[in-house]
Amino acid sequence: MISKCLFPVAGYGTRFLPATKSMPKEMLPIVNKPLVQYGVEEALEAGLFDVGFVTGRGKRAIADHFDVNYELEKEIEGSSKEQYLNSIRDVMERGKFSFTRQTEMRGLGDAILNGWRLMGDEPFGVVLSDDLCLTGNEEGVLAQMVRLFNQFRCSIVAIQEVPDDQVSKFGVIAGEKMKEGLYQVSDMVEKPSLEEAPSNLAIIGRYILTPDIFNVLENTPPGKNGELQLTDALLTQAKNGCVMAYQFKGKRFDCGSVEGFVKATNHVYNNVYLK
Ligand code: G1P
Repeated sequence: MISKCLFPVAGYGTRFLPATKSMPKEMLPIVNKPLVQYGVEEALEAGLFDVGFVTGRGKRAIADHFDVNYELEKEIEGSSKEQYLNSIRDVMERGKFSFTRQTEMRGLGDAILNGWRLMGDEPFGVVLSDDLCLTGNEEGVLAQMVRLFNQFRCSIVAIQEVPDDQVSKFGVIAGEKMKEGLYQVSDMVEKPSLEEAPSNLAIIGRYILTPDIFNVLENTPPGKNGELQLTDALLTQAKNGCVMAYQFKGKRFDCGSVEGFVKATNHVYNNVYLK
């Protein structure tokens, strides 16, 4: 059984300055709910109730969001305003939350390595909350991936096909097609140029990782931009065993960019909030 999920949330969010100068980018709201809560709800829906955060300086608002705010709750108790707390109360009831801190920003691989003591030696999900994945009434992306994990028992990355001018923004995979939307990974390159890119299949911020990833990460040298790259460690796993890439069903918004954030806001307002 897989029951844990890791949220690396230590990044700076420079593309959203000055909004993110003293506020975590993960707390930016898509309509009335912070980005990170969408990710946590997706994890809970997938049965991943043990939620760990790798935070950093200036990120305390995230821990407060998943805790009780007595003063506020007392103030609005019994009034019609109380309903606005329903979604976060539900999340807090269902999930267990733990936090650890990354003191230096040495890349996604390093953030994951910092989560070792929270995840232990069990397989776990990873959510990069900048990537908002919405599936309407269908099963969420992590739930789709957990089902695949139960079948294959190896690390899985979520992928989407992207246009040529986008490949350099992502980890990109190559693989053998097992069936529609499912590949066994044979190569993986972090943020390649178009010439280096092995395909147009880009990694989106949803992963299921087997716990041997931690030992692999410890032995992985810094890669692209001098950072410890999760993509490099996953390639080692793929070469020694098996990593699957799953072209998920659903929409993905890059909420780390202003354009993606605005698109997500409009989408959620029209398709969720007004409904
Ligand atoms: C990270 C990963 C990259 C992946 C991307 C998805 O990059 O390193 O492989 O494609 O997330 O959003 P980042 O966007 O954090 O630079």
